[in-house]
Amino acid sequence: MADGPLVLGIETSCDETGVGIVRGHTLLADALASSVDQHARFGGVVPEVASRAHLEAIVPTMRRALDEAKVTLADIDAIAVTAGPGLAGALLVGVAAAKGYALATDKPIYGVNHLAAHVAVDTLEHGPLPEPAIALLVSGGHSSLLLVDDVTAGVTPLGATIDDAAGEAFDKVARLLGLGFPGGPVIDRRARSGDAAAIPFPRGLTAAKDLAAHRYDFSFSGLKTAVARWVEARQREGTTIPVADVAASFQEAVCDVLTAKAIEACRANGVETLVIGGGVAANSRLRALATDRASKHGIRVRVPRPQLCTDNGAMVAALGSHLVAAGVAPSRLDLPADSAMPLTAITA
Ligand code: KG4
Ligand code: ZN
Repeated sequence: MADGPLVLGIETSCDETGVGIVRGHTLLADALASSVDQHARFGGVVPEVASRAHLEAIVPTMRRALDEAKVTLADIDAIAVTAGPGLAGALLVGVAAAKGYALATDKPIYGVNHLAAHVAVDTLEHGPLPEPAIALLVSGGHSSLLLVDDVTAGVTPLGATIDDAAGEAFDKVARLLGLGFPGGPVIDRRARSGDAAAIPFPRGLTAAKDLAAHRYDFSFSGLKTAVARWVEARQREGTTIPVADVAASFQEAVCDVLTAKAIEACRANGVETLVIGGGVAANSRLRALATDRASKHGIRVRVPRPQLCTDNGAMVAALGSHLVAAGVAPSRLDLPADSAMPLTAITA
């Protein structure tokens, strides 16, 4: 195992079929097939469509990853696969494929937690993660604040969204502005020419009365409704909707709450490193605001490049590599796909 274990990672929890290969902390391949275009006309991911797309994509994506890394299955030391949380049918495709490959090649298999993999992936870009760290995971399916003591042993959930995920809010607001799916990238782009202070949209769960029970929790459903009401009122008046201003003001409300709570979690826990992951971590305003606010408190922000923030196989391989290096026992070959896998479980 020169320079660390050679680990293959398979990700199929949502709409991306990903196969990544790492050696230690070095990324060798990151092959991806996305079914996002097939979901666009529905305005969100359709589970059955995603499962079918994974079935079609898994073998070709596997071949591409092995070619890119210039290795064969026989060279691999371990196979890691997302066991949960995620869409049940989608997870099953990856887990069944990983079992097949593990059985055929007699390699150990690690069923891993998707959220912990979003944290571990940052080591491929920025090296070993100083622990403890705080992780802010924001995507279409999750919005969580975690305390990471040891990513191979378990993470402590501090808070999560009580309704919509952050990415889901971007997607819904984009839809009501007629901007298409997925909404994050287009809102990010349109917001650049808008005024973030134009409309004072609400900041969910930041009032004193909410903080007692929801200090590190998020809520984006009220914000989404506020944007819808604001737009409807303008439509009734017959005035033009200032799309860039709405996009910028909405985006600012999301990023303001996410960064304020993440930095508060760092300070309250005496932690100096904040890792941000998930698709929404690609947001330019979130990256800038987090870095700006954190620097005032001596906190370092680590955000992987956008391709590693969204779902991919490399993140699963990265976590697998940590597990092998830490001597964690592999999963059993009959490991289940667990759509509600808790954060306290790193392996299945
Ligand atoms: O991590 P991801 O690829 O898949 C899930 O696990 O959900 O995240 C996808 C989400 C979508 O909701 C998308 O709108 C959002 O990430 N997203 C963004 C940006 N790029 C992607 N949100 C805000 N700004 C962006 N630049
Ligand atoms: Zn994800």
